[in-house]
Amino acid sequence: MKTVTTVKDLRAFLRPLRDRRIGLVPTMGYLHEGHVSLIRKAREECDVVVLSVFVNPLQFGPGEDYERYPRDLERDAKIAEQAGVDFLFAPSVEEMYPQTPLTKVTVSRLTDRLCGASRPGHFDGVATVVTKLFHIVEPDRAYFGMKDAQQVAVVEQMVRDLHFPVTVVPCPTVREKDGLAVSSRNVYLSEEERKQATVLSAGLREVAEKVKRGEMTRASQAIEYLKRRISSKPLARIDYVDVLAYPELTPVEELKGRRVIVAVAVRFGSTRLIDNTILDEKEETPCSAR
Ligand code: PAJ
Repeated sequence: MKTVTTVKDLRAFLRPLRDRRIGLVPTMGYLHEGHVSLIRKAREECDVVVLSVFVNPLQFGPGEDYERYPRDLERDAKIAEQAGVDFLFAPSVEEMYPQTPLTKVTVSRLTDRLCGASRPGHFDGVATVVTKLFHIVEPDRAYFGMKDAQQVAVVEQMVRDLHFPVTVVPCPTVREKDGLAVSSRNVYLSEEERKQATVLSAGLREVAEKVKRGEMTRASQAIEYLKRRISSKPLARIDYVDVLAYPELTPVEELKGRRVIVAVAVRFGSTRLIDNTILDEKEETPCSAR
């Protein structure tokens, strides 16, 4: 594995490899099993795997955790090498933003809700840095986790709208044994917060089961159920609970016949956790119509 810190060097390394299939896994580092699952998928499907580690200041709002976001490049390099990364791209902020940028990429509508509503400007920061990474690496395939399902929807829309020659590959959420979605931010949780945080995945799983069994048919029922379930934990403060069509992120009420996302964001102390599940209640094509 080669660690590269400048755009110029990375481009020079990739130039003779352009006829190979290049996979990009963009991350903010402090690597965990979720990131590793994306790297493994890229390793399976691509000849060259580029992992970017860059805590992108543009996607953090004022008062968010940019400064205290966990960073450990040495540890990341070990994990990346073991997982089969060829190039670890770890630029400085000065390298990525040598001047205050006057250009940004905005994906409208999809970013009005969920995390976009709670974190104004966040997805502009994501879309802008992902655009820069796509231009620097020019990957054939780019790997993103469904843990951040809205991010996947936003990046896919941007790729279509702007004709990026890249295939976005969404990958399933990796969870701890007790269901908690793996996240770099989980290290902030106290022991008691960590215990109570399992309510996110448990609540989402219960909703998925109820919908599957036909006991829950409407978005408002799912939202009510989750709000009550999550509020039963004294340390949980709900940011949002929502059910939307996926990937359109438009409001829905009737769940049947639709692909929807059930998404939650909950604070435990100063730590904000997100999780979601996709319910695919699209009607099977009847045999007669096949
Ligand atoms: P980061 O939070 O480091 O996540 C990097 C990638 O790992 C994202 O695609 C995210 O969805 C995925 N990921 C995180 N936790 C996961 C889990 N438990 N299971 C599966 N995948 C998981 O997302 C970002 O960084 C940034 O916004 C970035 C895209 C790098 C732009 O700065």
